[in-house]
Amino acid sequence: MSRSCRLSLPLLTRGSAFALLCLLLGTIEIGALNLTLNNSHNATCLHAHWQMNFTIKYETLNHGLKNVTIQVPSNASYSGSHCDTGDNVSQIKVQFGSSFFWNVNFTRQNSVYFIDTICFSYDTSDNDTFPDAKVKGKVSTTFEVDTVAIPLDELFRCHSVVTVTEENVTHNYWDVFVQAFIQNDTISTKEYVCDKDVSTESTTALTTVPITTSKPIPEERPHPGTYSVQNGTAICLLATMGLQLNITKDKVTSLLNISPNTTNFDGVCLKESAMLWLNDSNNYLEFLFAMKNGNRFYLKGVNVSLTFVNGSDFVAANNSLNYWDAPIGSSYMCNKEEAIAISDAFQINTFDLRVQPFDVVEGKYSTAQECSLDDGSILIPVIVGAGLAGLILIIVVAYLIGRRKSYAGYQTL
Ligand SMILES: *[C@@H]1O[C@H](CO)[C@@H](O)[C@H](O)[C@H]1NC(C)=O
Ligand SMILES: *[C@@H]1O[C@H](CO)[C@@H](O)[C@H](O)[C@H]1NC(C)=O
Ligand SMILES: *[C@@H]1O[C@H](CO)[C@@H](O)[C@H](O)[C@H]1NC(C)=O
Ligand SMILES: *[C@@H]1O[C@H](CO)[C@@H](O)[C@H](O)[C@H]1NC(C)=O
Ligand SMILES: *[C@@H]1O[C@H](CO)[C@@H](O)[C@H](O)[C@H]1NC(C)=O
Ligand SMILES: *[C@@H]1O[C@H](CO)[C@@H](O)[C@H](O)[C@H]1NC(C)=O
Ligand SMILES: *[C@@H]1O[C@H](CO)[C@@H](O)[C@H](O)[C@H]1NC(C)=O
Ligand SMILES: *[C@@H]1O[C@H](CO)[C@@H](O)[C@H](O)[C@H]1NC(C)=O
Ligand SMILES: *[C@@H]1O[C@H](CO)[C@@H](O)[C@H](O)[C@H]1NC(C)=O
Ligand SMILES: *[C@@H]1O[C@H](CO)[C@@H](O)[C@H](O)[C@H]1NC(C)=O
Repeated sequence: MSRSCRLSLPLLTRGSAFALLCLLLGTIEIGALNLTLNNSHNATCLHAHWQMNFTIKYETLNHGLKNVTIQVPSNASYSGSHCDTGDNVSQIKVQFGSSFFWNVNFTRQNSVYFIDTICFSYDTSDNDTFPDAKVKGKVSTTFEVDTVAIPLDELFRCHSVVTVTEENVTHNYWDVFVQAFIQNDTISTKEYVCDKDVSTESTTALTTVPITTSKPIPEERPHPGTYSVQNGTAICLLATMGLQLNITKDKVTSLLNISPNTTNFDGVCLKESAMLWLNDSNNYLEFLFAMKNGNRFYLKGVNVSLTFVNGSDFVAANNSLNYWDAPIGSSYMCNKEEAIAISDAFQINTFDLRVQPFDVVEGKYSTAQECSLDDGSILIPVIVGAGLAGLILIIVVAYLIGRRKSYAGYQTL
């Protein structure tokens, strides 16, 4: 039993029904494919972070049709994956369990590339997954992804859920970050956003619906979460922070605390920049760190897209920030609340912050450079004290002048 078909599906250009994935994923990512490939010159040539799962429908011996959902385990094998070896084709191959294979290939044409074909196969003889399958045998399905052309030096990004049903298999893909045919050993910080994400984002730009969130305004400090990014097996970026988002629209301010327990994180570390991506089922937040003069780092960019409970969305981005400046080889620390202004309508309040986007050694923070807000904690009472002394002096002088005047007035009478 082996089937193969070829269909053209509008996978990433037009969307099937938009479904928010309300999984409580915690901080361990299940079903994520995470891969960075190097070419023969040791230069990074392909990077992929790709969340997926599959639901397979099969016929059982006695109980009719049955569904089984397959996740990609963290110990999946990527062997056979390769970058362009002169034929303008790159491929990711994933093998897991006793019988599952998934692969995707990318093709390049001059200055653009395409996500070309996805193939998924399984074997119903696998008695662990399909114990009661009526028919035992290998099944493979293939479909062509009808993607738009992605410019060569851009990272394709799609965090919307994309669902494709092919034969008896339902594919779910979300939080896709992929760049094939990477130039000059550099994963791009420029994103090519899929139409589905864009349509969610642009509706916001066009409508003037007030931002309303059903969440009550948080009164507490947000819980700090620890987020990290790995380069191979080594941690290359560390961030600990409590995050509170402040959204203002039509004079209404909403505060939203990021809950570390339900937030996924990932990112990339490059030679001169690093990115941290945070997301849960409704919200997506991206931090871009860059180097300054080769010896300092800073927070250069932030991108956010939020989906509110009743469907109104919010996006904001700023790529010319200058926060969290500290020397490379150290970390930046700020225990006090610090506000990061992204746009007129959006700011992030950070609490108990510590971040190190470069040169993390053995997964630990290096010495911290503290923010001026922390240093300033002793200055405040001094200023207040000085202010009070000044005030007292003014009152005394005013009193003396007043007394003198009334005394003088008295004398003329
Ligand atoms: C590639 O880089 C790694 C670590 O950076 C190094 O250990 C390895 O020898 C390099 N391989 C080649 C072929 O240059
Ligand atoms: C199996 O999954 C498909 C697609 O999600 C769904 O339409 C179908 O009702 C499910 N069948 C069973 C028996 O759960
Ligand atoms: C992967 O992990 C699963 C359980 O988590 C285990 O049964 C399986 O043997 C592992 N496979 C490999 C190749 O290590
Ligand atoms: C892409 O992969 C599919 C399935 O693995 C294969 O049939 C096809 O020939 C590949 N395309 C190219 C251009 O190599
Ligand atoms: C699965 O079970 C069937 C029947 O119980 C058996 O004939 C078959 O050999 C088993 N397959 C494997 C891979 O163990
Ligand atoms: C790669 O490097 C070459 C030469 O250093 C430069 O001309 C080219 O623009 C770079 N390409 C990209 C995509 O950065
Ligand atoms: C939220 O942002 C508005 C406008 O920038 C500001 O006036 C307000 O003080 C902020 N509130 C908090 C709690 O950060
Ligand atoms: C998050 O996890 C911490 C520690 O595991 C726990 O104390 C806290 O109640 C959790 N918060 C939520 C919102 O689940
Ligand atoms: C934010 O996203 C936009 C597109 O959605 C992209 O052009 C921009 O480079 C991103 N900025 C940062 C700081 O990542
Ligand atoms: C969102 O919900 C609020 C209150 O629940 C309501 O006032 C508002 O009209 C809703 N917005 C949309 C776009 O449905």
